[in-house]
Amino acid sequence: MDAPLSFTHRFEPALRPGVPPLLLLHGTGGNEDDLLPLGRMVAPDAALLSPRGKVLEGGILRFFRRVQAGVFDEDDVRRNADDLAEFVRQACDAYDIAAPIAFGYSNGANVAAAVLLLHPNVLAGAVLLRATLPLSQPPRPNLHGKGVLILSGATDALMSLDGAKRLAAALTESGASVTHRTLPVGHELSQADVSLARKWLDEQSAGTHP
Ligand code: MLT
Repeated sequence: MDAPLSFTHRFEPALRPGVPPLLLLHGTGGNEDDLLPLGRMVAPDAALLSPRGKVLEGGILRFFRRVQAGVFDEDDVRRNADDLAEFVRQACDAYDIAAPIAFGYSNGANVAAAVLLLHPNVLAGAVLLRATLPLSQPPRPNLHGKGVLILSGATDALMSLDGAKRLAAALTESGASVTHRTLPVGHELSQADVSLARKWLDEQSAGTHP
């Protein structure tokens, strides 16, 4: 049975030592089960930590409140990023794992971006699928040595390319090593997301353990 940490979550141990763990963060309306199969596809041997968003919006789960589609309650973004960062610290202790790489989709990618910006020591890096900049006045933490892969959809009606570019710029200005690719898709995930994320994660693992 999972330990009683501050978020309902799933944890799957690593199948091989030395592979960075993944923090799976689902999109709006998802839950802690959603990204486990995808996590296994992109990081077959990694420990997987997958919390359930705590914010309920009309019966569906998210990681922070929004005023309307694409307009965020930034105080709530900050509160929930603090809360999630604390959970990740607790889980790293409880499961004896290293700081994870976030793997977030949509609302999950946006909360991952907020955690990176507000709690730069909690994550080892991030794969942000269909993300935007969640804070209008982002802080400038020290993200040197952290890799971030941002994958956007060229025809994404929910997440503007401009927002993703502002996110890439904010992370780059903070010293992160950012790769931003735009795929010929919309908000939905594609095979290209899986292949690019897997290749990028393989490279991160190789960099950690040459
Ligand atoms: C968000 O709320 O984080 C974004 O608008 C995407 C979503 O609806 O999940």
